[in-house]
Amino acid sequence: MNEGLMTVSYIGATILFILSLGGLSNPETARRGNLYGMVGMAIAILATVLGPKVTSYLPILIAMAVGGGIGLFAAAKVKMTEMPELVALMHSLVGLAAVLVGYANFFDTTIKLEGVEKTIHEVEMYIGILIGAVTFSGSVIAFGKLSGKISGKPMLLPARHWLNLAGLIGVIYVGALFLHAEGQAALIYLGIMTGIALLFGIHMVMAIGGADMPVVVSMLNSYSGWAASATGFMLSNDLLIVTGALVGSSGAILSYIMCRAMNRHFLSVIAGGFGTEGGAPAAGGMQPEGEVQPISAADTAELLRDAGHVIIVPGYGMAVAQAQHTVFEITKLLRDKGVDVRFAIHPVAGRMPGHMNVLLAEAKVPYDIVMEMDEINDDFPETDVAMVIGANDIVNPAAQEDPNSPIAGMPVLEVWKAKTSIVMKRSMASGYAGVDNPLFYKDNNRMLFGDAKKMLDEVLSALKAG
Ligand code: TAP
Repeated sequence: MNEGLMTVSYIGATILFILSLGGLSNPETARRGNLYGMVGMAIAILATVLGPKVTSYLPILIAMAVGGGIGLFAAAKVKMTEMPELVALMHSLVGLAAVLVGYANFFDTTIKLEGVEKTIHEVEMYIGILIGAVTFSGSVIAFGKLSGKISGKPMLLPARHWLNLAGLIGVIYVGALFLHAEGQAALIYLGIMTGIALLFGIHMVMAIGGADMPVVVSMLNSYSGWAASATGFMLSNDLLIVTGALVGSSGAILSYIMCRAMNRHFLSVIAGGFGTEGGAPAAGGMQPEGEVQPISAADTAELLRDAGHVIIVPGYGMAVAQAQHTVFEITKLLRDKGVDVRFAIHPVAGRMPGHMNVLLAEAKVPYDIVMEMDEINDDFPETDVAMVIGANDIVNPAAQEDPNSPIAGMPVLEVWKAKTSIVMKRSMASGYAGVDNPLFYKDNNRMLFGDAKKMLDEVLSALKAG
């Protein structure tokens, strides 16, 4: 393939990537967005492999078969709730690739540059390896924390901010030495910087508590984009530069949106320390008052049947129980009886962005009854029944009522303003942020204890029987 055709293919792939991002911003167009991305990536790979720079196909074919095989296997095997772990692991590979490409560039004796061009190339290499190493070690730790192999508790070393600052100054100083060094000495400086960057990545993510992990995953997503972009500069590959920048900036925007949804400042997330292991209530905040009032599946069905307006709030527990299909069965039945049923989706419900939308789309719930938090939060006072399915943190009134709560200020779905709220979960355990939930003790709240799928099956049977 000649240069001209390759450039045209790269422009086509870039346009498809932009269309893909646009498509992914809405559940209705997400499928199309994915398709654009897949076609764009296929064009990008073909144009690169068939381009003038590639002289031997066998190693590439072997690498593609092995990499593609592992990717296919992992994607087919992974459970929806394990998706963030897989994503973290993939980011680590992007980081590792940037480090390896950086070192390959360093050892490449065919690159002969002089003066400013040489300096620019060395800066690209240095920054590429730096971002790649931070992304790699940070993502491996994020994978460990998300999969429970490493404790979710933040590891807070004394003087940790000073340690980070020392690392930053060290990297800049060693960078200056690297630019003036040659051969063995330059390699040693590169090695020292890689070591500092790896330690920094580990330290940064170890200091972050479980509750902030989603933001960290999307931040690492952004880093992996910048690492790819830096690799693009090293390889003089325009498509990699642009694609990396798209991933880098969209990851940064997503981190910002998630920070807002959790009422956290980005810098305080990076500074670390918030959130404990799920299940154990975190220190701070007042103890909830009142009595817990359990309800049976039959009484829940009765309340739903008599309701005019129902809002369903799905959370992580619905994903664990795989209850989305039964939820839709109940929705259909109620809608056929003339009940107005809608879904309220919190931006960080579940364990990954869009988690609930994906599950509801899988169960074929119509998009027009699935509402974002901002669209529906004011409607709870006019709602007869708010049914919370396996959600906890995202409906915790302490975020508004208790300034000392660890989640104070986080925007939440105001289900307690409905005439009756019903929370479906197995026990009184806390959610991801490890914070007690006063909603469970409110006068107008009922608890339907049990596995969400099992309880919803019982509610469905009772509705059908009625
Ligand atoms: P959580 O606060 O984690 O609460 C989920 C609840 O589901 C738990 O309290 C659990 O209570 C219940 N549950 C678990 N398995 C169940 C089952 N089989 N049947 C019924 N209930 C079950 O979830 P949420 O309200 O969706 O909030 C999300 C939290 O995760 C937020 O703190 C958010 O910051 C964090 N987070 C979000 C993301 C993204 S991007 N969405 C990523 C990582 C973390 P029992 O054990 O008593 O059943």
